[in-house]
Amino acid sequence: MQRIAMLGSGFIGRFYADSLQGQRSKDKVISIYSRREESAKKFADQYGCTHWTTKMEEAIAHPDVTIVCIALPNNLHEAAVLLCCRHKKAVMTTKPLGRNATEARRMLDAVEKASIFNGYLEDLVYTPKFLKSMETVKNGALGRILWAKSRETHPGPHSEWFWDLEQAGGGCILDLGCHCVEISRSFIGKDIKPVEVMCWADTQVKPIDAEDHAIGLVKYENGAIGQFEVSWTFRGGMDLRDEVMGTEGTIWSNNFLRTGLEMFTTGKGGDYIAEKAESNTGWLFPVGDEINELGYNHMFTDMFTALENGKAPKETFYDGYVVNAILDAAYKSAKTKLWEPVNLEVWRGQSGITRHSHLQEYDSDHYLVKEEMTHYGARKVILKNKQTNKIIEKIIGDLGAGLENHGL
Ligand SMILES: NC(=O)c1ccc[n+]([C@@H]2O[C@H](COP(=O)([O-])OP(=O)(O)OC[C@H]3O[C@@H](n4cnc5c(N)ncnc54)[C@H](O)[C@@H]3O)[C@@H](O)[C@H]2O)c1
Repeated sequence: MQRIAMLGSGFIGRFYADSLQGQRSKDKVISIYSRREESAKKFADQYGCTHWTTKMEEAIAHPDVTIVCIALPNNLHEAAVLLCCRHKKAVMTTKPLGRNATEARRMLDAVEKASIFNGYLEDLVYTPKFLKSMETVKNGALGRILWAKSRETHPGPHSEWFWDLEQAGGGCILDLGCHCVEISRSFIGKDIKPVEVMCWADTQVKPIDAEDHAIGLVKYENGAIGQFEVSWTFRGGMDLRDEVMGTEGTIWSNNFLRTGLEMFTTGKGGDYIAEKAESNTGWLFPVGDEINELGYNHMFTDMFTALENGKAPKETFYDGYVVNAILDAAYKSAKTKLWEPVNLEVWRGQSGITRHSHLQEYDSDHYLVKEEMTHYGARKVILKNKQTNKIIEKIIGDLGAGLENHGL
């Protein structure tokens, strides 16, 4: 059983607490830190916490606490992590790890120096659809991954601090791009080095200093490309979609809108629909078990199983650091309009790998360009001669029936 100190009683703190204590969970949030006494008490009442406080260090140092969960605005993650190091408490931090890679690196160094368990709470690589897709990719059903695209767009965050560049550290690139980058990176391979980034970003709608819309490309050392599409200006709810393309297959997944549950209401009941849903009337797309669909249950199960077995979870501060480094390059590229290198002072994956040969042998004289079934039922191959470079096509197998049926 884990006894958790929750730092922050806002939106994600509540989502986390609902996940941690949902169903018949044996894990409990026993201490809550919130800035205001009223919020701390309210949260403690609602979630049955035995301890509440308005002093962050008191929650962390509480002797019964086995792990600390940081659910605070981005500018407070580092201070909270350093306190966990001081008290040698296992720590999990919501995304993004830092406001930039420098901050993330300091957090990574601190937890490793203190030898404490560290988990990066990137829930979107724990959704049931992602887990199934990832298993498929690992089994080789998609072949070599060429392109992994992830989109998160919604009408913008719910609290004031997100819109303040100093506290948030960035706009939608940092807030939403961190999810997308880790999704693409996982499909492409977390040991494959991200090398450079090209990004377009703009402030198209909101009166803010940060970007509210961006699209970016992340190039990996093996030639694969990651793509993120993020926005705080999208209308119509929260759009969470991924696409993976490999040499042998494709996956498209939609995690939130149009997941198969559709309903219409005139609005009489006025119910909660889903995170960032813009309406509760008309045709609606609820998400079923939102906590599960967003991956929170699977994420905490991985965190605590790893902690109890003395292992690292699937997502650690190191992953958070790599994500921050990629996003730093995206910010730079948005300014320079150039491909910008990903500056990774710490890299623990493979290095110096070359692109895989993309040539598929057909026979000793030819490469295979494409194989297909014709409309008249024959199997056809398109080949390239290795010596002459000439492209030819060849019908293989029994043609007879197919040709006759088509009057050929
Ligand atoms: N899917 C996800 O993983 C996900 C979703 C939403 C938010 N987040 C992350 O969670 C963190 C918190 O976001 P949120 O949506 O819960 O925000 P929120 O504004 O709803 O809640 C923030 C909490 O921190 C407290 N707080 C604010 N300023 C503070 C200060 N100066 N000192 C101490 N406490 C302060 C607030 O009172 C509140 O309890 C952010 O890092 C955000 O990026 C993650």
